[in-house]
Amino acid sequence: MTKTQTLFQSYDLQDTLKLKNRIVMAPLTRCMATDELVPTQAMADYYARRADAGLIISEATLVSQDGQGYPNAPGLYTEAQVAGWKKVTQAIHQNKGKIFAQIWHTGRVSHSIYHQGQVPMAPSAIRLEGRVPRTDDLEYETPRAMNLEDIERIKSNFVTAAKNAQRAGFDGIEIHGANGYLIDQFLHRDSNHRTDSYGGSIENMMRFLLEILTQVKAATPDLAIGLRLSPQAYANMKHDDRDKELYDVLLSRLNQYNLAYIHTGMFNDSHNEFLGGTVTQYIRKNYLGTVIASGGYSADDAVHAIENKYADLVAIGRPFIANHDYVTKIQEQKKLVEYDPEMLTSLY
Ligand SMILES: Cc1cc2nc3c(=O)[nH]c(=O)nc-3n(C[C@H](O)[C@H](O)[C@H](O)COP(=O)(O)O)c2cc1C
Repeated sequence: MTKTQTLFQSYDLQDTLKLKNRIVMAPLTRCMATDELVPTQAMADYYARRADAGLIISEATLVSQDGQGYPNAPGLYTEAQVAGWKKVTQAIHQNKGKIFAQIWHTGRVSHSIYHQGQVPMAPSAIRLEGRVPRTDDLEYETPRAMNLEDIERIKSNFVTAAKNAQRAGFDGIEIHGANGYLIDQFLHRDSNHRTDSYGGSIENMMRFLLEILTQVKAATPDLAIGLRLSPQAYANMKHDDRDKELYDVLLSRLNQYNLAYIHTGMFNDSHNEFLGGTVTQYIRKNYLGTVIASGGYSADDAVHAIENKYADLVAIGRPFIANHDYVTKIQEQKKLVEYDPEMLTSLY
């Protein structure tokens, strides 16, 4: 089989969900929704141009207003947002593509400018060091620790967002449990110092995520549910040696959840001493279902990962921003345009 053929084999993600190739468009925040966080026609056109990917995962999409941490990132909690996303999913389906909604709450990776002057919330009142992107150099603030009511409300917001995703015509959802955002903040020692039933022990630290999965599954039994995880803290989070113990338990527990897949959240998925391989290899070792690799993969790297069975699918991020025709270019072995952060100012 030639290299390209490996990437162009179809893949049965779930019984009723056949992907036409192994190339996934990674979730990519573009901050181009309206001020009401509604997806626009330009966004529908942008995604539709990329519909020849086996699967598109949408940019991170807010489950509630209190989850906002970036300007003009879309939501899935108002009727106008659902209507906006419908245009996106219809455009993709017209072009014979498939799309999952990545649903998201930023937790402490936010600022009071998004919350009428109130500080954001997080598992514990522990500040993230650094500056808030896309602001005038504002520093992160110490968040307020979530109380049990907040936890219940946010879980139900994930459930509502999943139902809204289904109504908007998405082929599934991806729960954003990676990259240092709210769910990830419960899963890492750096950000979770709670002493109640959501912190301390591994069981307690996993509880928020597992309850979301259980509740979403119960509310939308026919919806495919993927999950993105960052076992190696690398973004918006400090490493702690104890994290691996949790992910060993979590990944094997997730085998019981009938997920569509687990997706590596990593910018550069290279060998990692701590996990004894790449993050994707580590996930593969501990989880039996479909694995999506991600983080600096060229098409050749993707072929290598699939042929060596480290991953079933490979998500491509920045090259998809630079090349709307990424899939055709790979198929026809044409040269890719190199990604440049300047490209983030346009939605082509
Ligand atoms: C501009 C930009 C926006 C991103 N937005 C998201 C996002 O919304 N959700 C997410 O899980 N990851 C996000 N990521 C991470 C990508 O999904 C991907 O993991 C990362 O870019 C590494 O893959 P690549 O080397 O193929 O670009 C973003 C990355 C970039 C560069």
